[in-house]
Amino acid sequence: MVRVLVIHGPSLNLLGRREPETYGTVTLAELDRRMLTLARQEGASVEIFQSNHEGAIVDRLHAAPERYDAVVLNAGALTHYSYALRDAIAAIAIPVIEVHLSNIHGREEFRRASVIAPVVKGQIAGFGPESYLLGLRAALSLAQPPSAGRGARAKDEPGGRSRAVPRIRASSSNRRKR
Ligand code: DQA
Repeated sequence: MVRVLVIHGPSLNLLGRREPETYGTVTLAELDRRMLTLARQEGASVEIFQSNHEGAIVDRLHAAPERYDAVVLNAGALTHYSYALRDAIAAIAIPVIEVHLSNIHGREEFRRASVIAPVVKGQIAGFGPESYLLGLRAALSLAQPPSAGRGARAKDEPGGRSRAVPRIRASSSNRRKR
């Protein structure tokens, strides 16, 4: 089973009440529920962490490769200036997907730059809560299931195909059961 860590950065705990004209009215609890539902449908596991503290997020990123196959990260305002986060992402070998509810490129000048963008796998911005679900889907398609073993052949490498098949079977049989 693929394991994904979702990290919400500063002020995302206030989602639903915080600047609803920009971030919408969906609460963090509802957003988390949607991600857990998607993960269940896909036969994956998701753990979710929110912090308003840069160092706590750095610590989680450092520890992530021991327990997870990929990270979905909305770093909030840290996106725009935290070289500590950037270095933490660069230091770990699992894919990190950057997500934002709003389209940061269409907002104030300071939000248009992401200092973490060069070291993440990719960025999804502007789709509201859907950004996280798209990010989770990206994480699931990038992540190596633990059964393949880290450093094992990727599914599209020669000889790697049979290792990926059980994961696809497992998720479709889960769906049929419900
Ligand atoms: C945000 C965009 C950031 O600029 C802002 O500081 C946030 C939320 C987003 O999801 O759109 O806290 O990351």
